[in-house]
Amino acid sequence: MTPVPATDVVTDALVELQRRLATLDEGEVASYIPQLATADPATFGIALTSMGGNHYWSGGVDMPFTLQSVSKPFVYALVLAELGLDEVTRWVGAEPSGEAYNAISLEPGTGRPANAMINAGAIVTTALVPGADEEERFERILDCLGRFAGRRLDVDERVHASESETGDRNRALSYLMRGAGSLPGDPRGVETYFRQCSVRVTTADLSLMAATLANGGVNPSTGETVVPEPVAVQVLAVMASCGMYNASGDWLLRVGLPAKSGVSGGLIAASPARFGMAVHSPPLDALGNPVRGVAVLRELSARFGLHLM
Ligand code: DON
Repeated sequence: MTPVPATDVVTDALVELQRRLATLDEGEVASYIPQLATADPATFGIALTSMGGNHYWSGGVDMPFTLQSVSKPFVYALVLAELGLDEVTRWVGAEPSGEAYNAISLEPGTGRPANAMINAGAIVTTALVPGADEEERFERILDCLGRFAGRRLDVDERVHASESETGDRNRALSYLMRGAGSLPGDPRGVETYFRQCSVRVTTADLSLMAATLANGGVNPSTGETVVPEPVAVQVLAVMASCGMYNASGDWLLRVGLPAKSGVSGGLIAASPARFGMAVHSPPLDALGNPVRGVAVLRELSARFGLHLM
């Protein structure tokens, strides 16, 4: 997708923020997935998509990077649309974990992970995607992500190989949940979760994906209903309470928008019925959230009164 240039108050705000916050020199590029460590820390793009399908942006928004955890709300949407909230909630909760994204999360008694935005919950969500085998399951995921983005997406095979080689903690989570009876399917299905995290997008794609959630599940560019409106609302609710890991409470306090971050430096936020937006910049804070993305959203929310409460 090539964003359409626009010069107005939104573009001016994005350009000013991008220029000023480019000098913010904090955080570290993720390196526990070795291939992610090759990212240029100076990369910084901001994109915003209105419900009318207009695109506003500043900085580089056409450079591909991998979705990582930003894939989680969209795959959650896919299984909610397929199975319904009650069935999905039998397997994965909707409570903030108050812990890191890669924490062991087993609810006493049920073994359910706290929510679908942390790794344990996302591994369960991916396992819930209908399909005869892992290949079919992954194709469903790729197809759905592409409908949110308005174009067919693909996998960054180098990042995928790198994550698979170093993904023992996620494998351990998968086997722990299987042992607790809380993982539907084969623990080796975690490989499909690795592939989902390695799907390649641009900041412009991500903005449209967020806008589709903000627009009640209808892609504002293609007009396609990707998921039913109640599903989009359910996903935004869990993003609001759990999307920023153990910074979710502070985020809701200061920014007040549903959001989701990822370790490659992507961040989406949605203002329901108004716009979706995305920021990409690789350096992360100590909790794994992108430093510049958080700063952009804090400022925009304050300046334009975006807080939902
Ligand atoms: O499973 C992982 O560790 C990565 N594929 C995704 C984690 C992630 O993006 C957490 N985000 N802050």
